[in-house]
Amino acid sequence: MQNNQQKIVVISGAGISAESGLATFRDPEGLWQQYSLEDLATPQAFARNPELVHHFYNARRRQAAQAEPNAAHLAIAKLEQAYQVVVITQNVDDLHERAGSSQVLHLHGKLSEARSSRDPQLIQEIGSQALNLGDLAADGSPLRPNIVWFGEEVTAMAAAMSEVASADKILVVGTSLQVYPAASLLFYAREDAEKVLINLDIADIETGYQFIQGKAATQVPALVAAWGC
Ligand code: NAD
Ligand code: APR
Repeated sequence: MQNNQQKIVVISGAGISAESGLATFRDPEGLWQQYSLEDLATPQAFARNPELVHHFYNARRRQAAQAEPNAAHLAIAKLEQAYQVVVITQNVDDLHERAGSSQVLHLHGKLSEARSSRDPQLIQEIGSQALNLGDLAADGSPLRPNIVWFGEEVTAMAAAMSEVASADKILVVGTSLQVYPAASLLFYAREDAEKVLINLDIADIETGYQFIQGKAATQVPALVAAWGC
């Protein structure tokens, strides 16, 4: 990375993986329209019915492993030819990495990792393997998905805020901006930074970002080309 390169931060949500076939959360066919997040994406849910939670994340892990990065993921990776790029994603799939992005920060964890239910630092790579009742971490506690559930702290938030505050350009793509603190990241941008938001629908909050309406796999490559890559 040359020192004179401009810095781009990309903030992505489930919408960027929709065209890779992975369900979003709050769209009409979204996961939280089919399931109750209280039964699947909270520490209480895991304590109450770990088998159901394992089943839900095993299915999502299998789907993510079978999905391919789409043109939006690939275009973002291409930006690294001319810019210093940091991707901050709310997604738990690895499509940004598989597209070639080298700096990816997962705010809500990764499907390909499991961790001790006692020590959040005790993490292990499981790839696309299933997690089952009885699978234990090295500290003897039940293994759980290394996913940040509702009500849990987003430990990567401070790092993410600092990346956004030092960006020359910010691209927000495929997020409903419904979940905090992730959604507050937009507002750490410098006044003079170029700010673009790509989504199917206009945000229901005033973001101060240039809004480009359309699908990520169409609009992100067009923007990346306009940014010279
Ligand atoms: P929250 O109570 O703020 O809920 C977050 C959002 O989830 C809400 O704004 C709402 O849009 C949506 N939501 C809540 N109940 C829902 C339902 N029944 N159906 C569909 N959508 C629903 O979340 P929180 O408990 O304050 O979360 C705080 C922490 O949890 C944050 O650190 C956040 O990053 C983390 N988190 C993780 C996940 C995850 O699944 N990994 C999801 C959301 C939040
Ligand atoms: N191109 C661009 N945007 C799209 C596309 C697409 N092809 N398909 C859907 N979208 C947009 C929708 O308009 C919506 O604004 O993607 C957004 C998806 O929003 P959500 O389903 O709420 O996903 P996200 O914002 O990532 O959710 C945040 O909530 O449950 C938690 O942890 C989970 O990380 C997730 C968080």
